[in-house]
Amino acid sequence: MSVQKKEIKRITTNVLQSMKRKGEKIAMLTAYDYTMARILDAAKIDVLLVGDSASNVMAGHETTLPITLDQMIYHAASVVRAVERALVVVDLPFGSYQGNSKVALESTIRIMKESGAHAVKLEGGIEIKESITRILTAGVPVMGHLGLTPQSIYKFGTYTVRAKEEDEAQQLIENAKLLEDLGCFALVLEKIPANLAKKVSEMLTIPTIGIGAGSGTDGQVLVVHDMMGMTKDFQPRFIRRYLELYDLMLQATTNYIEDVKSVQFPNQGEQY
Ligand code: KIV
Repeated sequence: MSVQKKEIKRITTNVLQSMKRKGEKIAMLTAYDYTMARILDAAKIDVLLVGDSASNVMAGHETTLPITLDQMIYHAASVVRAVERALVVVDLPFGSYQGNSKVALESTIRIMKESGAHAVKLEGGIEIKESITRILTAGVPVMGHLGLTPQSIYKFGTYTVRAKEEDEAQQLIENAKLLEDLGCFALVLEKIPANLAKKVSEMLTIPTIGIGAGSGTDGQVLVVHDMMGMTKDFQPRFIRRYLELYDLMLQATTNYIEDVKSVQFPNQGEQY
């Protein structure tokens, strides 16, 4: 008797580019752990981003700056172990690529070897051109990230919408074109005006993935904790909550505590 192996069509960078050509939208979410990644992959998410937002939602830091390369690799390896279908992209954390392209390649190689991920994401445009080129030369797919780039929060000063003014919008357009010309396979556009994101998306042949950038991009990404309603005190207008998990989990925990204290848990059927 032969054992039939389940055939799963994996999402690759080529699949994403053909989705753009066909006008099929790309759905991306962040993931940082095995159990969550299994659920998102089972639902057929196209891309899982092991974002450095792990610094905020997993570790409780105010910014994405403190997370280390070792910590990103730990999260990425957990996600990769869970995934059968999605493309797994990992953020290069702050300090692991900006300084020089050799360091950028070394960080990338560690991520690829130690986690088994499929691609990396870097924040920025022309200023990180050499790092992107070197990573691409090593055969690793790169996703770009423009607009609000949280690793530069202390330069911006706030998390408000970027590129509202003409000169910053023009700079973003030039950087987007540069990232495509360098060979990036996709581009995240974060918190920029919807009409600018649409213009950039129409101008590029590579897919754009928006967050707070309107409906004109080729796909959307949200931080999974926001989308599931676990982060109650973070409520920017671009987030849609598909669950109110904070409330549900709070209630479940309250019920559990009550049951333990009143000796209603465990019952006869829940013991040996
Ligand atoms: O780290 C992250 O979660 C991200 C997304 C917001 C795009 O970079």
